[in-house]
Amino acid sequence: MKITIIGSGYVGLTTGVCLSHLGHQVVCVDNDVEKIKLLKQGISPIYEPGLEELLKEGMEKGTLSFTDSIEEGTKHGLAIFICVGTPPREDGSADLSSIEFVATRVAETMEEYKLIIEKSTVPVQTGLKLKTTIELNNKRGIEFDVASNPEFLREGSAIKDFLYPDRIVIGVENERAEKLMREIYEKIDAPFIVTNIQSAEIIKHASNSFLAMKISYINAVSMVCEKAGADVKEVARGMGLDHRIGKEFLNAGIGFGGFCFPKDLKAFIKISEDLGYHMNLLREVLKINQEIREYFITKVRDLLWNIKGKKIAILGLSFKPNTDDIREAPSIYIIKQLLKEGANISAYDPAAMEKMKKIFPDIDYKENPYDTLGDANALLILTEWEEFKNLDLERVKNLMKTPIIVDGRNIFEPDEMEKLGFIYRGIGRA
Ligand code: UGA
Repeated sequence: MKITIIGSGYVGLTTGVCLSHLGHQVVCVDNDVEKIKLLKQGISPIYEPGLEELLKEGMEKGTLSFTDSIEEGTKHGLAIFICVGTPPREDGSADLSSIEFVATRVAETMEEYKLIIEKSTVPVQTGLKLKTTIELNNKRGIEFDVASNPEFLREGSAIKDFLYPDRIVIGVENERAEKLMREIYEKIDAPFIVTNIQSAEIIKHASNSFLAMKISYINAVSMVCEKAGADVKEVARGMGLDHRIGKEFLNAGIGFGGFCFPKDLKAFIKISEDLGYHMNLLREVLKINQEIREYFITKVRDLLWNIKGKKIAILGLSFKPNTDDIREAPSIYIIKQLLKEGANISAYDPAAMEKMKKIFPDIDYKENPYDTLGDANALLILTEWEEFKNLDLERVKNLMKTPIIVDGRNIFEPDEMEKLGFIYRGIGRA
């Protein structure tokens, strides 16, 4: 099928390369001319395992191309996915002006039937507004349908999540739209959930919020574990083997970051409030996520006494492993706080240092984990990159001034670390 993707960010680009991999004829649009230039050279502007390979494959096969013109994109696609950004406003609500802009341009330029699909993360009822906007600007009365198709992919495993999803959710208003959506995804083997547009939108809100709630829940439990002499890893395992609970997203740590959970939770709280329900449960989820970061810093203070003048090595800056994304990363809050208290920080991350340099230009970035450790009073682990799990711990200890490790992601075992001679603190581990 001829498909157009408008907005070639994380979701858009992944959708585009994967749909071209599945055999569709895809055109990706973006208003960022520099990004389009890079893409046309087969270079991915984001770090995502497997993405660049599929990008090159699509370009070589001739099933994937790029443009900065919405008009060209509209002309091409029978199905048009809107994947533009919906950044948060001051009050937590999502800024939908880019969606409105794109919908208006599509409506003004389309010359034949189009299926227009919202894939950006949007508040419930955006689909209805999208439809109204297109109707208002569709002066020639061209036929169209609107659909919602929320995306559940994770950064770092976006390609796999897209091609092998747990489910595909589509919100449609008629059989014509459903048939086309089924055709788009016919090569993917996954349960196909067909709902109305509002239900599809709420499935996205409710799924992300539920996952964030699981994380805050286990983080809250971790604080009790420490005080009670329990180990949150064992507790999570014991809980997670119950299929009704499930073991994923029960890793205690310094909490969730990224561009999705914090923003989506705020947006869900706001839209629920606008609709007349106060989602206090989710306010608490956000509050615990902040508390756990502060609690982590308290641990560092307890061990180092005065932070001022101490050398602190930090491993991991991205909001999670396998990405260079630092948006809303817990590391930003923690580094800011430690710098405020007078720490000297050296840091290493396999992918996120270039981005972090823009926020903290003055900390000492190193080329590998060991180089951060010379004379360090403490080592903090903030992201669970695989590379850190395989560190030569004897070497780590020898390089440090005092062998203190505060592990914000529980990548090591307290007993083993103590045997090796470290003063080691994880999260929720007695
Ligand atoms: C999340 C969802 O998992 C996706 O399904 C969704 O499509 C996406 O948001 C989105 O709305 O676009 P993502 O933000 O890429 O994906 O990252 P996750 O893997 O979900 O991790 C989010 C945060 O939770 C990270 O900071 C991670 O470190 C933290 N986390 C995750 C924990 O602290 N503990 C866990 O057990 C799991």
